[in-house]
Amino acid sequence: MTRSMHQDAAETVLRRTMVLLLLLLMFSSSSFPSVTAECPDNCSCEEELTVFCHGQGLDRIPVRIPPATKVLALSYNKIRDIEPKSFTHLTELETLYLINNNISEVKNGAFSNLSKLQFLRLSGNKIENIEIGVFNNLTSLNELYLDDNQIHKLDLEMFKGLTKLNKLSLGNNMISSIPPGIFDSYNVVESFTA
Ligand SMILES: *[C@@H]1O[C@H](CO)[C@@H](O)[C@H](O)[C@H]1NC(C)=O
Ligand SMILES: *[C@@H]1O[C@H](CO)[C@@H](O)[C@H](O)[C@H]1NC(C)=O
Ligand SMILES: *[C@@H]1O[C@H](CO)[C@@H](O)[C@H](O)[C@H]1NC(C)=O
Ligand SMILES: *[C@@H]1O[C@H](CO)[C@@H](O)[C@H](O)[C@H]1NC(C)=O
Repeated sequence: MTRSMHQDAAETVLRRTMVLLLLLLMFSSSSFPSVTAECPDNCSCEEELTVFCHGQGLDRIPVRIPPATKVLALSYNKIRDIEPKSFTHLTELETLYLINNNISEVKNGAFSNLSKLQFLRLSGNKIENIEIGVFNNLTSLNELYLDDNQIHKLDLEMFKGLTKLNKLSLGNNMISSIPPGIFDSYNVVESFTA
């Protein structure tokens, strides 16, 4: 009889402790929801402003990139496509690295909301085709690297809208002719080889 009462009391204490622990767990996870949840898989994040996903074997752009991200490093992966929606929420983005991936086409809308982007590095991909208007909204872009790709043709409209551009790197492509006047409004064109 006394033993059973003892057990009951012990069980009650245990149950109360468990409930308390559960409450503590719930409380602590809800008060720090973004510490780990906001960083994409296989990436590391610093204060949610810099997101490093270099050389992770990624075949697509990660989801859940924090909207406050300023630097996004996605080089040395196997990314093939830039979906039009991939970066649209990254309105604070200033630097985007996509060096040495497997991108063959850059479609319209890929960079449509990146009005603060200053550095865009797309070197070492398989880009053949750049849709007209892709760079239209990149009004802060200072440096654009497209070297070491497979670009055949430059269009007069291709770089329209890049009013702040200072450096354009187009070396090691397959460009056979340059439309007259295409670079008239830019200060510097670097390492250009036809
Ligand atoms: C992250 O890396 C692991 C191991 O390299 C891999 O199995 C997993 O698919 C990767 N995740 C993503 C989202 O690519
Ligand atoms: C690159 O993309 C091509 C198709 O465009 C595919 O055949 C190839 O396997 C990809 N390479 C890598 C390393 O993912
Ligand atoms: C640009 O971002 C805004 C929110 O900042 C969003 O409402 C809009 O849909 C985005 N534009 C595109 C083309 O995705
Ligand atoms: C440029 O941004 C505006 C909204 O800010 C959007 O409606 C438009 O589609 C964008 N243009 C391109 C070419 O992405």
